[in-house]
Amino acid sequence: MHIFRLSRLATVIVAASCVGETVGAGFAKKIPQLQTLPPLREQADLVNSWTEERKALIPGLLRKYGVDAWLVGDPPYTRTHAMSQREYAEDTIFWALKDATQFSARRRTTHLFLASPKHGAKNSYSWIDNTAALWDDLRDILVEQQPKSIALNTHPELAFASGLHAGELDAISAALGEDLADRFVLEPMLPIEVVATMVPGRLPWYKRMQETAWAIIEEAFSENVIVPGKSTPLDIEWWMREKIQSLNYTTWFQPGVYILNEDGFPGKGSTSFRNGMRASANRPIQHGDLIHTDFGVTALGLNTDTQHLGYVLYPGETGADIPKGMIEGLKKVNRLQDIVKGNMKIGMTGNEILQASLKQMHEEGIEGKIYCHATGEWGHSAGTVIGMTNLQDSVPVLGDLPLLKDTYYSIELYAEHFVPERNQTLKFPQEEDVYWDAKAESWEWVYGRQEEFLLIRTPAESVLENPGEL
Ligand SMILES: *[C@@H]1O[C@H](CO)[C@@H](O)[C@H](O)[C@H]1NC(C)=O
Ligand SMILES: *[C@@H]1O[C@H](CO)[C@@H](O)[C@H](O)[C@H]1NC(C)=O
Repeated sequence: MHIFRLSRLATVIVAASCVGETVGAGFAKKIPQLQTLPPLREQADLVNSWTEERKALIPGLLRKYGVDAWLVGDPPYTRTHAMSQREYAEDTIFWALKDATQFSARRRTTHLFLASPKHGAKNSYSWIDNTAALWDDLRDILVEQQPKSIALNTHPELAFASGLHAGELDAISAALGEDLADRFVLEPMLPIEVVATMVPGRLPWYKRMQETAWAIIEEAFSENVIVPGKSTPLDIEWWMREKIQSLNYTTWFQPGVYILNEDGFPGKGSTSFRNGMRASANRPIQHGDLIHTDFGVTALGLNTDTQHLGYVLYPGETGADIPKGMIEGLKKVNRLQDIVKGNMKIGMTGNEILQASLKQMHEEGIEGKIYCHATGEWGHSAGTVIGMTNLQDSVPVLGDLPLLKDTYYSIELYAEHFVPERNQTLKFPQEEDVYWDAKAESWEWVYGRQEEFLLIRTPAESVLENPGEL
């Protein structure tokens, strides 16, 4: 008898016959634990402290991008950034700057940030008003400060730089008059860097959330949850949703669980990808299946994004029985992760990183796809992208942005590998989050990366005891 996986809520006692192979997934390594969240009031204090750290960066960023004023929500000013919005018609940036107890904009909510305030003015101003007094105040400040440029979030393609609603722009322009409206500029990297920059205070909790995501995946992809021959991918997805809920976390996308086969993964485009993978959503997971999950959790204004693989052992099998071709496939995708991580040089564009990574991938004889994105504040957060499943040459606009330091990225990709035991070329997907380590000047795994399959074990005895179950 042996006790393992103490992390699980239900501690499992495993029959002696399958003790040997628990080592790979457990003892030698850290076992991810579920991390519970503090009470809501403490959560609000935490999140507000991170928002304050972020706001403190704004004057420096305004100067970096040569903007005098930024108007958020409504009018953004260069060297001034202004933001303005009405209730339920928020600028995307509103969510990154709001207080933890604000659930939406109210009335007209307008923020003005000044790069270099003069005459004793403040760095930032906020109004929540539904009268013309708001415009009078705003105009007075701008007339006194005389910013040369006023940044507004009006980009046609980049979501994080395009949150100013069209009607709000009309309102601002009319309220401020031609002289000030002539100074409106667009500096997309300003809102993008404000959102993308993950202040240091966030990291300890991001690590805990990542550990929680790993722990949920480990439990889902185990014999505690998967009954071969019975459980379907949809069953496991909804088990994961309930698990998230029970921990008082939430998520930003429906968990995906997939049985991988030759035509099972991405390929041509996301629609065929999902349709192809959904085809097996209702078929019970069987012994010998290679299974895959795409899973993330949300809490404290942070989001994680992880993809891991599992293998369903035949009754009585141990980790030593995983088909060698599959182990090699996982090794290959681990190598591809290293290639991309090594090419993610700060200041290079996502497209340059994509090209360099694909070149090295092919030189090393690997076939695969690369589709990495910023993560953290949003699941798909502000910042350049490194490929997309349907765009492997270059990604227009988003892929031309420079990679920023002090951000979190999701290294998302797959490698193809011929598995002789299956006589099939399978795609081995992985996704792991990294953060920029300012001291080491390198990208580090937030929790770790998967180097061994999660195993679903069936003791040999159950074949004898319950032949009907199989
Ligand atoms: C979830 O929240 C409820 C209500 O506040 C609390 O009683 C419970 O302990 C929380 N559960 C976890 C796992 O944090
Ligand atoms: C392997 O697959 C190929 C093509 O799908 C097929 O032609 C071949 O007969 C298969 N080999 C075996 C040993 O099944």
